[in-house]
Amino acid sequence: MFKKLFSQKQSQPDEADHPLTGLGLIPEHIAIIMDGNGRWATKRSLPRIAGHHEGMKTVRKITRHANDLGVKVLTLYAFSTENWTRPKKEVEFLMRLPEEFLGTYLPELVERNVRVQIMGDFDSLPTHTQRAVQKAMDETKDNTGLILNFALNYGSRAEIVQAMKAIAHAVKQGKLEPEDVTDQCIAEHLMTKHLMEPDLLIRTSGEVRLSNFMLWQLAYTEFWFTDVLWPDFDEACLNEAIQVFQKRNRRYGGLEGESK
Ligand code: FPP
Repeated sequence: MFKKLFSQKQSQPDEADHPLTGLGLIPEHIAIIMDGNGRWATKRSLPRIAGHHEGMKTVRKITRHANDLGVKVLTLYAFSTENWTRPKKEVEFLMRLPEEFLGTYLPELVERNVRVQIMGDFDSLPTHTQRAVQKAMDETKDNTGLILNFALNYGSRAEIVQAMKAIAHAVKQGKLEPEDVTDQCIAEHLMTKHLMEPDLLIRTSGEVRLSNFMLWQLAYTEFWFTDVLWPDFDEACLNEAIQVFQKRNRRYGGLEGESK
């Protein structure tokens, strides 16, 4: 059994407003599909990679802001298992970005008590990417502030397939009974087993789809879509998303104010 770092429970709306922003209830886990880097660059007659580079700066900005707000986990979709089909030069650039980001900002992340983690197929990443990410994970492993969780070479279906295989093996070996295969059992075999599920999902750039991102974990998550392109996304955009989230009525399939 794995123990979750955090409860699934939401803070209650009557808790005092957040001292920093007065926003009130802050989602514990925010997941973001960072989209629109290419369009941002094309609009400026720049190569697509310029958009990714600018997007990296947004990662820094939003990480700082989320940490200041008291968000516990920020999961960022940085590279999907499908992104390998992009032109070689773009893929190579994207695989260098974690190195540049962490090479530049790791001291700041350490100072701000941020813990870096990744979820995805780590072993298939280029060695230089693995090295940069591993160093950041090692140096921040004891930090107790925001968990900055990069989805890197991540695909949700692959994640679920891998979980199902592990469960099937455990059943075959007699370590699990078929009756033991519950919601909780499946969740405990996913890459997010140590995290609470996202409270809020944000996707930028006007696209309204999940693109193979956290399909299991988003079952009860509130979604917020914006036309803003990721390089233009800023603190005010995150505040707006949180304010919308605060007005949502999360019922988890039940009825408001009624329980058995
Ligand atoms: C989607 O935009 C974005 C990506 C595939 C890459 C996201 C990566 C970053 C924002 C930088 C990551 C930074 C670190 C530190 C790892 P797109 O290229 O699909 O944009 P488009 O839809 O406008 O073409």
